[in-house]
Amino acid sequence: MSALIVWKAEYDSGIEFVDAQHRGIVEVANTLFRALESGSNPELARVLALLVEYSESHFAAEEAMLAATPGYPDLAKHRLAHSAFITRVRSQCVSPKPEEVMRFIREWLVHHFLGIDRQYLSYVRPTRAAPSP
Ligand SMILES: [Fe+2]
Repeated sequence: MSALIVWKAEYDSGIEFVDAQHRGIVEVANTLFRALESGSNPELARVLALLVEYSESHFAAEEAMLAATPGYPDLAKHRLAHSAFITRVRSQCVSPKPEEVMRFIREWLVHHFLGIDRQYLSYVRPTRAAPSP
């Protein structure tokens, strides 16, 4: 079965809930890709809406973590990046342009996981040490 994004170990941040949610977003993106391949426009619109919903929920959780992280300097920039993604994907929900939106989603997600999401690890990790048993 084809996939838009194949998860790679390098996408893992080591923060359990972030990785679970990132993998969930990739799963929805791959479902979207399959809907595109099947040529079902109603399904495409439905899964696009699901991607928006799932991403909004993850971004809110990630932003809450970062807002509670002392010294993290990029919260405003990070929030903007998240909202730009939502705006772009949501605009495609109204009038899907399949190839364009799939390319955008793949490039944005991989770039985001490997870019700004990696940059917060040096701030988050020290305060998110393994919980005591
Ligand atoms: Fe992020």
